[in-house]
Amino acid sequence: MGIVYRKEEKQGQAAQGATFTYGSTNGKPKAGIAFIDNKPYEIREGETILAFIKRNFGNDYVPTLCDAPNLEPFGSCRVCSVDVALTENGQTKAQASCHTPVMANSYIYPHSDKIQKLRKNIIELVLTDHPLDCLTCEVNNNCELQTVAAKVGVRDVRYPEGKNHLDRKKDLSHPYMTSDFSKCINCYRCVRACDEVQGEFVLSMAGRGFNSHIIKSLNTSFEQSDCVSCGACAQACPTSAISDVFESKSIAVDKKVRTVCTYCGVGCNLDVAVKQNKVHSIQAPYDAEANQGHTCLKGRFAFSFYNHADRIRTPLIKKDGAFVAVSWEEAYDFIANKLTEIKAKYGPDYIAGISSARCTNEENYLMQKFIRAVIGTNNIDSCARVCHSPTAIGMQRTFGTGAATNSIKDLAYTDCMMVIGANPTDAHPVTGAKIKQQAIKGKTLIVIDPRRTELARYANYHLQLRPGTNVALLNMMLYYIISEKLEDKDFISKRTEGFDDFRDHILHLNIDELEKITGVDRNLVRDAAIAYASAPNAMSFHGLGVTEHSQGTFTVMLIADLAMITGNIGRRGVGVNPLRGQNNVQGAADMGCQPYQGAGYLDVTNPEIHRMYENFYGAKLPIHAGLKIPQMYDAALNDKLKAI
Ligand code: SF4
Ligand code: SF4
Ligand code: SF4
Ligand code: FES
Repeated sequence: MGIVYRKEEKQGQAAQGATFTYGSTNGKPKAGIAFIDNKPYEIREGETILAFIKRNFGNDYVPTLCDAPNLEPFGSCRVCSVDVALTENGQTKAQASCHTPVMANSYIYPHSDKIQKLRKNIIELVLTDHPLDCLTCEVNNNCELQTVAAKVGVRDVRYPEGKNHLDRKKDLSHPYMTSDFSKCINCYRCVRACDEVQGEFVLSMAGRGFNSHIIKSLNTSFEQSDCVSCGACAQACPTSAISDVFESKSIAVDKKVRTVCTYCGVGCNLDVAVKQNKVHSIQAPYDAEANQGHTCLKGRFAFSFYNHADRIRTPLIKKDGAFVAVSWEEAYDFIANKLTEIKAKYGPDYIAGISSARCTNEENYLMQKFIRAVIGTNNIDSCARVCHSPTAIGMQRTFGTGAATNSIKDLAYTDCMMVIGANPTDAHPVTGAKIKQQAIKGKTLIVIDPRRTELARYANYHLQLRPGTNVALLNMMLYYIISEKLEDKDFISKRTEGFDDFRDHILHLNIDELEKITGVDRNLVRDAAIAYASAPNAMSFHGLGVTEHSQGTFTVMLIADLAMITGNIGRRGVGVNPLRGQNNVQGAADMGCQPYQGAGYLDVTNPEIHRMYENFYGAKLPIHAGLKIPQMYDAALNDKLKAI
C-alpha cells in the first residue's frame, strides 16, 4: 500500500509557488551601486567589499592571507584592508574588505598610498617571526605568504631581529599530517577548516598575543590527537606550517590532472599531482561542485594502490595453468574468438557481462549495448543494481524515476535532516561532514539506525531500532504524522494519488505491535515524526542499511511516502536522497546495466519497448530478462554459463 507522486498538478488547480526559484542562476539581487576608485559598479545584496572587488576586478586584485575560498570570512590578518569613504575622495577609513559588507554609495580605494603602506607593514611584521628559507621550503613558489609579500613590495624587513618562534619543533608523528609551526602566521585557517569544513574541532589557538600558538586536541601530537586525516587544514594553511607527508602543496611535479575519486558515491573531484608518471599527491579543487575544496582521508591520501606492484597493468591469459602477460591485440583476439565460439556452440545466454559503477556513463552504455546487441543476451548486471536496486525500484514506483530528488548543496536550505540506514561520516565522509555541519548549526537531525554512529551523537532524535525493522518504524512515523493531522493536505491533493486508501491503511496499524517489533519507544518516534513533518523543509538520506535488507524496496517507498505526505518534494532543501556506494551508481543504472531494464530503465521484456530497442540498435535482441550476478555464478557452477 503506498501513494504515488503526480508529475503534473491535477487539472483546474493553480500552479503552486509562482515565485518558485529552484535552480535559478540569477545570483543575489542587486542592491544599488558603490564606487571603486570613483567608478560606479553594481553591488549585490549581502556581498562583502572583497567579493564586490573580486567580482569586478578578479580574484587577485586585493591580497589576502586569512581568507580562503571555502571558509567563512574571519578578518584576522588585515592584509585585505581597503580605504572606504562616504563621499568621493572624502575622509577614508581602512576596513578589512573580506568581512566588511559593501555599503551602497560608498567609495572604495583598494590601493591608496595609505593602504599600500599598511599592507607592507603587516607583512614585514609577519616576516619578523618567519624563517626566510623559502628556497628549501616545500611550498616554495606556491606559498601565499611569499606571493603576498612580493605583491605588496616587501624587499627587506626594517625591524631588528627580536624574540621569535623560529625554534619550534616539527611534528612528524602522524602517518599523513605534518606540522612545522615555526612557519605559522597565526591566520586561523587550519582551525577554521577543521571546524567549518570537517567539523572535527581538533585544532585550536592557545595562548595570547606573542604566545598564541596552534595546538592539536589537548596539546598533543598529530598522532595522538583526534585528527581524522582529512587534510583540510593542510590544504587551507597558506604556508607549510601544516602539510602532509606527500607535500601536496609542492609544485615540484610534472602536471596536475583533474579526476573523480574512485572510492565512494560522493564523487569528489580531485586534482592529482603527477610526477614521473606516478601519483605524487592529491588536493581538492575549490571549484568542484561535489566537494568544494574538501576530501576525506581516502580520497586525499589512500592512493598508493595506484602505483602498487601487484596492480595488473597488462591483459593476462592463462597458459598451461599460469597467467601470462599478453598484448591487447592478443587479448582482443582471444576474447572475440572465445565468445564467438561459445555463442555458436551454446547460444548467447551462455555468456554474461558485469559492468561497474566506477566506470563512466559511456563505458557502461557501451558494455550493456555490447552484451545485448552484439552477444545477444540480457545477462548484463552491475554493482549499481546490487547495492541500490531497491532505491531505483522504490523511487520508480513512487516518483516515476529512481534518482536523488535533490542536490547535496540543498543541505544549506533544509531545516531537518533524516538519515536512515547510513553512516555517512564514515562511508560518505564529505557529505557526512556537511550533514554534521548543519546539525552543529542547530538544524534538526533524526538518525534511524541500530548503531550509535557519529551522526547519532549529534542527533536530536536517535531512533535505535532493531536491525531489519525499518518498515515498521517508518510506518509508526507515518501513523503519527497522519493521526496528528500534520500531513500537507494541499500538496497531497495536488501532487499525489492514492492517499485516502493509504491513510486508512496506516491508521489501522497496531502501534503496540510496531513498538514491540522496532524496540523504539513510541513517544520518541512520535516526537521525531512531528519534527520531520513540522519542519519547513525536511530532507532524507538513506544508505545500504535500507537497501540491503529484503524489505529494501518497501522501505524506500515509505521514505518517499513520508516526503510526499509532508510536501517535502519538488523544491530546494527537501527530498529523498540515496547515498550511493560508488561514484557512478546512478549512471550505471541509467545506462541500462541491469538484466531486466535497458538504457533509460525501460523493461526489456515489454514487446513494444523491445521493438524500440531493436530498431534503435539495428540488431536482434532477446526479450527475456537476463541473469543477475548471483544467478550468473549459480549458472556457471551448473554449466549453464561459459563466459563472463
Ligand atoms: S586533517 Fe582534518 S581532522 Fe585532522 S586536524 Fe586537519 S582538518 Fe582537522
Ligand atoms: S598552521 Fe597554517 S593555517 Fe594554521 S594558523 Fe598557522 S599558518 Fe595559519
Ligand atoms: S568522500 Fe568519497 S568521493 Fe570524496 S574523497 Fe572521500 S571517498 Fe572519495
Ligand atoms: S584576508 Fe581579510 S583580514 Fe585576512
